[in-house]
Amino acid sequence: MSVAPMPVSTPLPAALAGRTVLVIGGSSGIGLAAGELLRSLGARVVLVARDKARLDAAVAHCLAVPGATHDDPVLGIAADAGDELELDRVFQQAGPVDHVLVTAGGFQVGPLDATPRADVQDAVDSRLWGAYAVARAAAPRLPAGGSITFTSGLYATRPLPGMAAAVAAIGAVEALTKALAVELAPRRVRVNAVRYGVFDTPLARGALGAATDEAVAEAGRAFLPGRLGTPAEAAAAPIFLMSDNYVSGAVIPVDGGQSLV
Ligand SMILES: NC(=O)c1ccc[n+]([C@@H]2O[C@H](COP(=O)([O-])OP(=O)(O)OC[C@H]3O[C@@H](n4cnc5c(N)ncnc54)[C@H](OP(=O)(O)O)[C@@H]3O)[C@@H](O)[C@H]2O)c1
Repeated sequence: MSVAPMPVSTPLPAALAGRTVLVIGGSSGIGLAAGELLRSLGARVVLVARDKARLDAAVAHCLAVPGATHDDPVLGIAADAGDELELDRVFQQAGPVDHVLVTAGGFQVGPLDATPRADVQDAVDSRLWGAYAVARAAAPRLPAGGSITFTSGLYATRPLPGMAAAVAAIGAVEALTKALAVELAPRRVRVNAVRYGVFDTPLARGALGAATDEAVAEAGRAFLPGRLGTPAEAAAAPIFLMSDNYVSGAVIPVDGGQSLV
């Protein structure tokens, strides 16, 4: 049976108006910024995260986005994205979804000779299995031209000592991105990933031990742009990947040029 080619869409964020985007990891950082941007573009936004109180605050935040004139409510669904049954419930509650962005995922560090197997398994579960399970739940539900966008990190190609398990797990997500772009192409579903440098989110503040704005500014001076990226700067990349129906299997670096030095 022949499958119709990928539909043509305008490769501009305007293409997302009226579309539904599920943001898994949408209560904080890059996911929350993506929710805000998507709403300002007229998309219907569904945010997913585990902590209900933080999720409710994120929904309220997105609802208050200036210039969002459409009436669609922002939906928040509390769930653990690593659990297939929970993911099934998420998709049922969300209704028809066009694009999925996955920003959920931890980054456990530890040296080779002192990381217990359970921690290595955790790294794989939270990253690789998390992405795999989302793709498995999303693939049969997405329309032609729909997309899944995963997140990776600069450490996948420029690792530091003492983070082998986490780096291997994010590298696996990049490989998964390309494998699924091929496997899901007959459904006309696209799969991409963004490889991030350091952005000013709660996760990065914790990792850098930078609790205050001054500490963040100090940490950012070492980076090529002289500062950390903002969550909105990070969130613009997955929005591009969702919008352009001719991008699939791409892993795009968004790191302020940090991969060059
Ligand atoms: N910020 C950076 O500098 C940077 C750099 C490289 C890569 N990244 C990657 O980019 C992604 C987003 O980072 P971020 O800085 O925005 O992180 P963040 O601020 O910590 O946000 C992570 C979000 O994911 C949710 N989440 C985590 N585990 C989940 C699960 N099992 N099920 C559902 N939701 C879950 C969290 O909410 P709950 O905890 O309530 O579930 C939260 O909403 C991460 O994968 C991170 O590793 C970030």
